[in-house]
Amino acid sequence: MAKRNFLTLLDCSQEELNQLITRASDLKRKHLAGEPHQPLAGKTAALILAMNSTRTRVAFEAGMQQLGGHAIFLGTADTQIGRGEPIDDMAKVLSGMVDIAMIRTASHEDVELFAANADIPVINAMTSLYHPCQLLADMQTFIEARGPVEGRSVAFVGDGYNMCNSYINAARQWGFDLKIATPEGYEPDAGILQSTNNAQLAGDAREAVENADLVVTDVWSSMGHEEEQARRVAEFAPYQVNEALLDHAKDDALFMHCLPAHRGEEVNDTILDDPRSAVWEEAGNRLHSQKALMEFLLT
Ligand code: CP
Repeated sequence: MAKRNFLTLLDCSQEELNQLITRASDLKRKHLAGEPHQPLAGKTAALILAMNSTRTRVAFEAGMQQLGGHAIFLGTADTQIGRGEPIDDMAKVLSGMVDIAMIRTASHEDVELFAANADIPVINAMTSLYHPCQLLADMQTFIEARGPVEGRSVAFVGDGYNMCNSYINAARQWGFDLKIATPEGYEPDAGILQSTNNAQLAGDAREAVENADLVVTDVWSSMGHEEEQARRVAEFAPYQVNEALLDHAKDDALFMHCLPAHRGEEVNDTILDDPRSAVWEEAGNRLHSQKALMEFLLT
């Protein structure tokens, strides 16, 4: 059977994505019940992280171990990646040694090049264009708490970067309506936005959040934009998610953030612990959804 990759949400059918979410919830129940489930015994994963990570790394490493396999962390500091070994060479070498690879690097083209040269399944662990693993956890979190996301209203407030692009793909795949509020000049990728009728730009944050079932934000200066921090803080100020903004959403709306968060910037000091916030459950679901994804690609 041909190997499958997970570089964007569009690499799976709508049916497969829903199966992944159902499976993630099953695996969560097994984990919480202490029920062993080790279908990946003897399998090895290479986890290539050219940028910092806490949640993604721990979810893949712990998840692989819980499924009976083993994950090898490959950072830039102590491998040949940091000394410029070509990414396509690395893909060919690792294909002879491990069963699956996850890769986080700024360039989405590098991940595509790696996947094209690998004989093993490849997972996008985040690029500047997409963060599809995070969307599996977000959709699992919403569906577990509120039921089907199809037909719901979702607001993305903040930087039109990789999380926003991924939410547009999610709107297309899960059939929800996405309203996006960004400052001028920080809109999501135009081609991705035009790929679906389910996502539209809103005039401001309040318009996007009005009657939403789910409100989502992300940091204003993602990895690679740190030098723009001061300018962005000024330009993004009207896009902070706080209780007053969330009050415009439905009474039972949820709030999500992929984390890490910058309190005082895209969120105020208290919203992460508001009763409407699902951020801690969302972070925990990274483990279960990434386990479901690895199981799907390897069995
Ligand atoms: N949300 C997320 O991807 O977290 P990390 O950068 O810590 O992996």
